[in-house]
Amino acid sequence: MRIRVLGAAAGGGFPQWNCGCANCRKARAGSPEVSPLTQECVALSADGERWFLLNASPEIRSQVEGFPPLHPRAPRHSPIAGIILTNGDLDHCLGLLSLRESHPLVVYATDAVRRGFTEGNAVYRTLERFPGQVTWRMLLTGKESALVDDFLVEPLAAPGKPPLHLEGRAGSDPGENVGLLIHDRGRNRRLAYFSAAGDVTPAMRAAIDRADCVFFDGTFWSSDELIALGLGTKRAEDMAHIPVGGPRGSLEILKDTRAKRKLYIHVNNTNPLLCRGSPERRQAEAAGWEIAQDGMEFSL
Ligand code: MLT
Ligand code: MN
Ligand code: ZN
Repeated sequence: MRIRVLGAAAGGGFPQWNCGCANCRKARAGSPEVSPLTQECVALSADGERWFLLNASPEIRSQVEGFPPLHPRAPRHSPIAGIILTNGDLDHCLGLLSLRESHPLVVYATDAVRRGFTEGNAVYRTLERFPGQVTWRMLLTGKESALVDDFLVEPLAAPGKPPLHLEGRAGSDPGENVGLLIHDRGRNRRLAYFSAAGDVTPAMRAAIDRADCVFFDGTFWSSDELIALGLGTKRAEDMAHIPVGGPRGSLEILKDTRAKRKLYIHVNNTNPLLCRGSPERRQAEAAGWEIAQDGMEFSL
């Protein structure tokens, strides 16, 4: 399977428009210590022809333009065969509304994510202008679905929360946040994808251990990252993101995972992991983790 990171940042991107934190200032100044990042989106293909996007970021237009395999091959065409949503956060869904140029879309999502995006949303009607403009394919946790022939996706419930705009409205639903285990049966390779996770459940751990490669939630290094910088009042856990560092962080919890290639993604602009040579970055790298970068591409 071919994997291309189109965007590796958390919501807001890096630098974030209204952020003057040390990392964002370095990014604006062109410091060699950091590389700017767009918001999370990964493209996958089993055959190099049909591509699947994991999430639809607000920066989808430039992300598609920046990767020629996603360009049209006819006057009206797109190699994007489907888009898989892992939750309803706007940094994962807003890009769908930018794909409104009368093109049929296939979107894979749990029922909770589909309802959260479509119900009562007048703006969504821009994707309902003709029958079949969006085909929703329902993801059921624990059940494998075929993307194409030998390319399968299994969603796994991951501890999460409803998107900000639905907080206090919907009750909690185990389908509101999922990770993915994607199996290329032709090559017998598996990718585990957990870009938002409040914890590591035993089922998530088992999926990660079966994978050849894992992308994991790298939003925050520490629980109080935003609080310590005076940028917010929420702890990482309040936002359903397990921190990377610390005794209960993902670096420690996943230290013995059997996944061969391990990457942090959905990295918030405040995270010291973004700074090459920082002690936190060195610690992650010493444990065998990479920090996903826009434009990174590899095959499994
Ligand atoms: C998150 O990852 O926690 C969300 O994207 C936050 C947000 O919606 O701004
Ligand atoms: Mn996010
Ligand atoms: Zn910042």
